[in-house]
Amino acid sequence: MCAMGRLVYIKTFGCQMNEHDSERMLALLEGCGYRETKHVEEADVMLVNTCTVREKPEKKAYSMVGRFQRLKEDNPHAIIGITGCVAQQEGERLLGGIPALDFVLGPGKIHKLPQILQDAERGKRGTCTVGFENGCPTNLPLPHRAQLRAYVTIMQGCDNFCSYCIVPMVRGRERSRPSAAILAEIETLVRQGTKEVTLLGQNVNSYAKHTPHELTFPQLLAKIDEIPGLERIRFTTSHPKDLTEETIKAFEYVGHLCEHLHLPFQAGSNAVLEKMNRGHTREAYLAQIQKLREVCPQIGITADVMVGFPGEGDEDFDQTLDLIRRVEFDGLFSFKYSPRPGTRVARWKGECTPEVKQRRLEILQELQRGITLKKNKELEGSVKEILVEGRSRNSPHTMRGRTRCNRIINFPGGSELVGALITVQITEGLQNSLRGERCGER
Ligand code: 5AD
Ligand code: SF4
Repeated sequence: MCAMGRLVYIKTFGCQMNEHDSERMLALLEGCGYRETKHVEEADVMLVNTCTVREKPEKKAYSMVGRFQRLKEDNPHAIIGITGCVAQQEGERLLGGIPALDFVLGPGKIHKLPQILQDAERGKRGTCTVGFENGCPTNLPLPHRAQLRAYVTIMQGCDNFCSYCIVPMVRGRERSRPSAAILAEIETLVRQGTKEVTLLGQNVNSYAKHTPHELTFPQLLAKIDEIPGLERIRFTTSHPKDLTEETIKAFEYVGHLCEHLHLPFQAGSNAVLEKMNRGHTREAYLAQIQKLREVCPQIGITADVMVGFPGEGDEDFDQTLDLIRRVEFDGLFSFKYSPRPGTRVARWKGECTPEVKQRRLEILQELQRGITLKKNKELEGSVKEILVEGRSRNSPHTMRGRTRCNRIINFPGGSELVGALITVQITEGLQNSLRGERCGER
């Protein structure tokens, strides 16, 4: 198929898995002659890659589709598609409810996108392609442009069934990609200029858990570490239940593994954790943090946490605050619980009122803001290696880089530094970032 010059616009909601899926969809479409546009008004194909993990991103996705519909009134040949987790969850129902919608495509069927678009261009509209293939695709389309930092899928799906979470329903059961394909993909990316990879999966620590003779996750990290030219390795997301001692030790001996771990804990109360079906206690979580810091004292730790889970009382919430004070996270992603149809908890009684959720979220975020600022201030005067990613958002003469611990540093410099590993001294710790001055090449 050749769609030479046709313009495609993709709006992405949700996690890195979705961002990466959008990159893969663009790579597939660029291979067929489409070009990306950042201006939806001029697009021939309008896609929204949706997230259903909470109510808010799902609502935003629907309002985006509303905007697409209005644009289509002026351009009736335009094609509108809904992809991602809402597509998987709602399927045909979306086509029934949104007359201007041309196709629905689930995250397990992305490779079908060129054919679906070709059919739509020829007038076959209203298709729904969802579900999962057996196994994880071995070869995935690579981005067309060189990427300094690239995502690499190592596994898909989730077997954990946390009682609040829709992900196992919309992303399917855990499937791991063969290590040989992962290593080959990273080698190709590095040849194209990639310096940092982030290994992606809903639960990367259980990589190949059910595949005999395959590498374990820490063994995979060690193999990736040997790839010449690769400077940095990261991974996300981890589950405390599956984070093994071997993986913790990898922070000591895998040289290119960056000292950062995102380890969601969701709640600090054992009663709530039990109802969430998390498979870990607060004590087990705190013990893991202690072990991580023994192995790697400088490690940056971030997490996800929720407030207002059904039945969460004031004492439970105090336990969450207590855990945050004890760990002193480098950053926290905090959410108000929202019931997701299709999950077990959605039918439970005892939901906290919106006011309680809001108040708890504010208290928690205020606590974390204080911790983040304190930690950023403590870094003043220290010298860090950063990978220069691009221009800072705020000033044309300031560049932006990232430490191995995943902190953003802005420093005076020019765009010739993009892609360089340099050392900077931190001059000022702010609420959301750090300021620094260049001291030299690494
Ligand atoms: N309500 C609120 N937050 C949720 N998350 C997952 N499911 C829900 C829900 N039903 C949060 C968790 C998870 C992150 C990706 O989203 O904190 O780690
Ligand atoms: Fe959203 Fe979860 Fe799907 Fe990612 S996997 S897009 S966070 S629902």
